[in-house]
Amino acid sequence: MKKIFYILFIFLLNNIYAQQLGLIPAPVHLTQQAGVFILDNQTSFDISDDLLKDERQYLIDYLYQYYAKSYTKDTKEARRSVSFGLNKSMPAEAYTLRITPELVQIEGGGKAGVFYGIQTLIQLLPTTISPEPTLPCIEIEDSPRFRWRGMHLDVCRHFFPPEFIKKYIDIIASYKMNTFHWHLTDDQGWRIEIKKYPLLTAVGAWRNGTMIGRYSDHRYDTLRYGGFYTQAQIREIVAYAQKRHITIVPEIEMPGHAVAAIAAYPFLSCTGEQVEVGKKWGVEENVLCPTEDTFGFLEGVLTEVMDLFPGKYIHIGGDEVPKIAWKKSNFCQELIKKEKLKDEHGLQSYFIRRIERFIHSKGRQIIGWDEILEGGLAPNAAVMSWRGTEGGIAAAKQGHFAVMSPGSHCYFDHYQGNPANEPLAFGGYTTVEKTYSYEPIPKGLNPDEASYIMGAQGNIWTEYILTPEHVEYMALPRMAALAEVVWSPAANRNFSSFKNRLAAHFRLLDMHKINYSRSIFEVKTSLKPGREQKGIEVGLQTIASGGEILYGFNNNAPNISYKEPFLLEKSGLITAVYTEKGEPKGKPVITEFLFSKSTGRRIVLEEDASESYPGDGAFTLVNGIYGSPEYFGFQWLGWSGKDMQAVIHLDKEEIVHSVQVGYLDRKESWIHPPSAIRIFVSLDNQTFKEIAVLNTNDIADQPRKIVLNFEPIQTNYIKVIAEHAGKIPNGFPGAGEKAWLFIDEIGVE
Ligand code: ACM
Repeated sequence: MKKIFYILFIFLLNNIYAQQLGLIPAPVHLTQQAGVFILDNQTSFDISDDLLKDERQYLIDYLYQYYAKSYTKDTKEARRSVSFGLNKSMPAEAYTLRITPELVQIEGGGKAGVFYGIQTLIQLLPTTISPEPTLPCIEIEDSPRFRWRGMHLDVCRHFFPPEFIKKYIDIIASYKMNTFHWHLTDDQGWRIEIKKYPLLTAVGAWRNGTMIGRYSDHRYDTLRYGGFYTQAQIREIVAYAQKRHITIVPEIEMPGHAVAAIAAYPFLSCTGEQVEVGKKWGVEENVLCPTEDTFGFLEGVLTEVMDLFPGKYIHIGGDEVPKIAWKKSNFCQELIKKEKLKDEHGLQSYFIRRIERFIHSKGRQIIGWDEILEGGLAPNAAVMSWRGTEGGIAAAKQGHFAVMSPGSHCYFDHYQGNPANEPLAFGGYTTVEKTYSYEPIPKGLNPDEASYIMGAQGNIWTEYILTPEHVEYMALPRMAALAEVVWSPAANRNFSSFKNRLAAHFRLLDMHKINYSRSIFEVKTSLKPGREQKGIEVGLQTIASGGEILYGFNNNAPNISYKEPFLLEKSGLITAVYTEKGEPKGKPVITEFLFSKSTGRRIVLEEDASESYPGDGAFTLVNGIYGSPEYFGFQWLGWSGKDMQAVIHLDKEEIVHSVQVGYLDRKESWIHPPSAIRIFVSLDNQTFKEIAVLNTNDIADQPRKIVLNFEPIQTNYIKVIAEHAGKIPNGFPGAGEKAWLFIDEIGVE
């Protein structure tokens, strides 16, 4: 028992210290002592092993850059020392950091461990320029939970210069992440110089126009856009990353997302037709044809890629490959017969297996998006699970390594705050809190299977991200949250501690001139049915704490100080803002409530919404709020390939004459309108009578909200069925997959 108290005590201390010190990711063990170490001119920097000279120089350069102090001279009369050493009894990425008034001692299992000790030291330094920065006396023992701690960047949809790639690598490294997944080729641009195939960049790196605004607007500019990295630049970036203990995983997309390559070398497609580099986002039907010429080309490309990137893994894409071109191609149909493949999915598997064999023969391994499971996984292939966690689970169960990167928690191109206050984003709603809540080991794996989960990764697709500052904004602070997920022991994870550290950590980002989202200061509403089925109880919160939330009704300025949840009984607007010392910290958030006979009533769903889009449960559909079409993770419920069936309990007999159902039409995100809406009434919740129905064509006439009017009728219960659209038809992103159905509100009059 005593031991448990002791462990609990240490755990609490650990959290308290970590919280005060603003360390992200939280270390495994930390104890703080009284006193400080002063980094002054009489500090020497000593290495026990020549191997560590890069790490030593990294810290000296950092101190010079941010504290304008030069420590390069070898101070014989040094009074204090910062020493760096190796301790081979620890794993390579583990480190200890000891700070006393006389010395700073960093020991790593390997160079990487020493580097991570330095990253911790940097986070302990003051965030104001000080002539003699001090470090708190402390002892830390630390090591990572997962071995793949990744961040991705798409440089195809928009191009980012080498200087920014280096800054991005610096940011990744500062969180002790160790993998940069560089998405180098796609439909809209080929971004890596390949000497054997010069047209890949001469032609494939440039497009004659770009989609602007929202995908569904289908608007384009006519500007030539592009860029690429020369092999010299890539070598420099790889070396830069190596010094920061980051492995770069290059991605060469195949057999889909390859229009830029086809524009350069039309023989790569099944028709040989000349096409343009893509201007439109989404999924293209024009894919690589599995001919010997294509494989020869890919082997040529991959040989140069493997020469540039020394890491073990080469990412070969494999996602979103429509099978239409292969279905139409006589060559592909003959190949399917000749190779005794089942169908086009078998052909996809054949394609990936051929590439896998080639890459494996060079001593490397492939990793691909989870579609590479279709038709059978290639031997030795690792899987990156993005369409959920199923791909990772399937891979691990088959004894293949997997990296978890599900859209629901790890796609940082999604909104992180209220879209009214955010730049246009892909969609989705992935708050820093949601990312932080992610557990990379999926449920249902036994310990042996779980050992195949290498870690997790955050992805940044750049359709709507045009500048480096915007990349930083989307990455942070979600990257910091994911860093803690993949580094810190699950038992040390505590969102309340993390958010307090984050508020302090923002000062470091300011010092490093890194842009970040302030969405933790945004006011969020939490809603519950009012007591006795009356109205809605409104709570207001922010992730940040310590300040004051002010709110106001309708057009009044927010000037009421929020103390506790209050009851709302009619339609109207609520404006709320978070302030600290009287200054607004986040932007005001305006929420519109539309009351109807269903608002705040009991509602029962036949089938819960997907775990990825659960909203606040069934109540979301009667909370008086229509969600934003922009960020469909919030105020929306989503079902994949299933109908929505809800029964609203009016709890007394009422006359009703109309039902209104809010839905989402975002086909680029696989979200399709319902194919039918049916309304039933009942007095006893047993026998229901259908009183209205609308089918596809009528629904298309009512974008966003479907209104069904009927003869007034007395009822106690209303059942609403929204039928899902089935399989996504050809010509739309995700063709052949299950369509999503999204519903946000059911109003009754
Ligand atoms: C992906 O997001 N298409 C992997």
